[in-house]
Amino acid sequence: MFFDLIDFSDLALADWEQLLELGFDICENPAAYRERLKGRILANLFYEPSTRTNLSFQAAMQRLGGGVIGFSGTSATSVSKGESLKDTVKIVSNYADAVVIRHPSEGAAYAASIYSKLPVINAGDGGHLHPTQTMVDLFAISKLKSKKMTGLAIGVCGDLLYGRTVHSLLRAFSLYKDNTFYLISTPALQTPEYFLSELKKRNEIIMAETIEECIDKLDIIYMTRIQRERFENEDDCNAQIGIYVLDKNKLKKAKDDLAILHPLPKNDEIFAEIDDDPRAKYFYQAELGMYIRMALLIKILENPKPRVSAAAQNTGKKCQNATCITKTEKALPNIAKTSGGKTICAYCENEI
Ligand code: CP
Repeated sequence: MFFDLIDFSDLALADWEQLLELGFDICENPAAYRERLKGRILANLFYEPSTRTNLSFQAAMQRLGGGVIGFSGTSATSVSKGESLKDTVKIVSNYADAVVIRHPSEGAAYAASIYSKLPVINAGDGGHLHPTQTMVDLFAISKLKSKKMTGLAIGVCGDLLYGRTVHSLLRAFSLYKDNTFYLISTPALQTPEYFLSELKKRNEIIMAETIEECIDKLDIIYMTRIQRERFENEDDCNAQIGIYVLDKNKLKKAKDDLAILHPLPKNDEIFAEIDDDPRAKYFYQAELGMYIRMALLIKILENPKPRVSAAAQNTGKKCQNATCITKTEKALPNIAKTSGGKTICAYCENEI
């Protein structure tokens, strides 16, 4: 079992399966869990905007009988006066039982776990990872496909470069086998190779340029929005808008039991006319998010295990990624790990 949830790989397949099973039970019998975390406190530290992740964690904790503290945006906190992540996390560690953090810098959740004596849950670190969204996505797929997590044809469409939910999802599916992934993106927004290396070992990957060329084969299509906030310049972003759009016309060739998923928020990549199509499952997916986060909080808070830190070495070399947490948290050690024969930053996983 696990202490923090920073990356999807913090959990073994057995852990995920236990979580999903608990999620199924909570969904069926929510009243049975009403007092399960009575007296416990969750700290929600949202340095970046959020609707679903923030509010579903709050709802999950309250439905389990616990309380929530935290902030949504830093303008009313001492972060606006220059307080470091380290100091913020150390202070909050005195007030709560677990920390949920969303932050614009890649590797921020891992950095927070270095400073926190409490379990840390990564609720999105820049364009890097978003493991609890993946938990929601796996739960939704499991619910919609009768617990079948193999032999599926899954289209992933849109911003596969900056979309952290996609990165975590692809990493998660490396635990499963015999699925076919259609990666539908422009050349400029393709998935970084390091999110595919494990997945490829037991699953097939097909690169696609259009939705039309694969829609008829898909059991799931996972749409994503263009992550405007992660682009360095507006023109590059605008050039990507409107290329992938799911509308009624494209769905004509789709299977009747296709599940259309989206981590949300959505912009124009799914036309509103699709919202009422029975295959549109993204609002249901968001509803399931609350139940599976209830399961996660129970697992993390009821049976805290000693933290096992990932093997990392101090290199003395600075990470060059401009959006890495090491750029703003000056006190962090310059640590690295190896992956696929490369030395990568332990925080943001960019090659050093
Ligand atoms: N899917 C997701 O992370 O949504 P929010 O940004 O609203 O939390």
